[in-house]
Amino acid sequence: MTQSPIDSSSDELRAGASRRQVLRAAGVATALGATSAIAGASARQDEDPPTLRLGLVGCGGRGGGAVRDALRADPNTKLVAMGDAFDDRISSKLAELNAEEEFKGRIDVPSERAFAGFDCHEKVTDNCDVVLMASTPHFRPAQVEYAVKAGKHMFVEKPVATDAPGLRRIWAACDEAKEKNLAVVSGLCYRYQNAKRATIEKIREGAIGDIKAIECSYDTGGLWHRGQKPEWSEMETQLRNWLYYTWASGDHIAEQAIHNLDKMIWTMDDKPPLSVKANGGRIVRTDPKYGNIYDHFSAVYDFGDGVKGFFSCRQIPGAFRDVSDHAYGTKGIAHLQSHRIEGETNWRYRNPGVPDNMYQNEHNELFASIRAGEPIHNGDYMCRATLLALMGRMSAYTGQEISWNQALESKEDLAPKSYDFGDNPVKAVAQPGITPFV
Ligand SMILES: NC(=O)c1ccc[n+]([C@@H]2O[C@H](COP(=O)([O-])OP(=O)(O)OC[C@H]3O[C@@H](n4cnc5c(N)ncnc54)[C@H](O)[C@@H]3O)[C@@H](O)[C@H]2O)c1
Repeated sequence: MTQSPIDSSSDELRAGASRRQVLRAAGVATALGATSAIAGASARQDEDPPTLRLGLVGCGGRGGGAVRDALRADPNTKLVAMGDAFDDRISSKLAELNAEEEFKGRIDVPSERAFAGFDCHEKVTDNCDVVLMASTPHFRPAQVEYAVKAGKHMFVEKPVATDAPGLRRIWAACDEAKEKNLAVVSGLCYRYQNAKRATIEKIREGAIGDIKAIECSYDTGGLWHRGQKPEWSEMETQLRNWLYYTWASGDHIAEQAIHNLDKMIWTMDDKPPLSVKANGGRIVRTDPKYGNIYDHFSAVYDFGDGVKGFFSCRQIPGAFRDVSDHAYGTKGIAHLQSHRIEGETNWRYRNPGVPDNMYQNEHNELFASIRAGEPIHNGDYMCRATLLALMGRMSAYTGQEISWNQALESKEDLAPKSYDFGDNPVKAVAQPGITPFV
């Protein structure tokens, strides 16, 4: 699992809230009676309320977390299918979940519903009502497209694409999901934290006046590396260590720091920037085992009318850590991570005594919305936030200023030549001023 600061806080928060508290806080129990929006004919219509069958695509750290959140969110859910590129990832995650007393009787994944390989998402989707997508990001467009065609509700981890062709595909699929009234709940979890929502609300009410600048940082240490084995093909090595390959992860500006870019565009009321000028490189993480991603980025997003978004992200062990966001307005400053406002208005979020685990909130709201027949659609903002990250990467890699439209229309297709466990040559590390914008 990605060892980001928010991952560990998720565990702490989870430990502090009982399942009963979580359900009560979200009002899920009251929504369980409504069944009209349950996708397809596959949900058990003879049960009241019908059991929603969960399918997991991507059996890693976050996938396990998403399953737990979904099971806790709604007592009438069951995990029935699992898929991953690798058998061993499925079996270890399944053993882990089976060993948890809390979920006794709610994990029902026999070997005929455990699917390994590149097409596992199709088989998982065919066997469930709600698909939890937590694989390596590159595959998300194909996964969402398939789920939409099959008429299934979705929880979709971030980022949702690693290149513009993928983003265009998933954006179109999300539009179709909306037409088909299918839930698309995004893993951009900060949008589900009540404390953040209240802070954004204060900004909208004018507590800091007109926004002039936003500063967002995701400066942190290194992440995991799962090693290399002589028997692994190049593709297997890359997928086991997907973080380090731009085609697979989108680079850490997209894979991890997207959370801060999402807060930037959320603060701006989801208005896209005109353009970005970014820098970046790899100065410490230079060993070939770290693929071709950078270890640091900085960027200035131009939102027009003199409003700028200043951003940095870094994955370098031993250097200072700063994961924070600040919005500067004509009447004050909002500190988004600490939920405070200072200036003409002085305000701090006070928790009214309810659990506020954003990961759990996402699933509580997802299942409540399905039960109520009003599925949530986060497709638009999850695509915008992903494009914000991709345009920053494009600018840093090429050394060019990149506009929002240029990024959206980019033809750079990072997909491997074929999806099989053979060779997959690693592209050279991008060099600003030399690497062309495509
Ligand atoms: N919202 C958050 O706070 C948060 C936190 C951590 C991770 N994430 C996101 O969740 C996703 C997974 O991250 P993780 O930390 O669990 O990584 P992980 O490596 O632990 O899990 C990813 C799994 O996907 C599998 N996989 C690779 N290709 C696949 C394919 N084609 N089909 C199905 N499975 C495939 C891998 O084998 C691996 O088991 C990423 O998109 C990551 O950015 C989000």
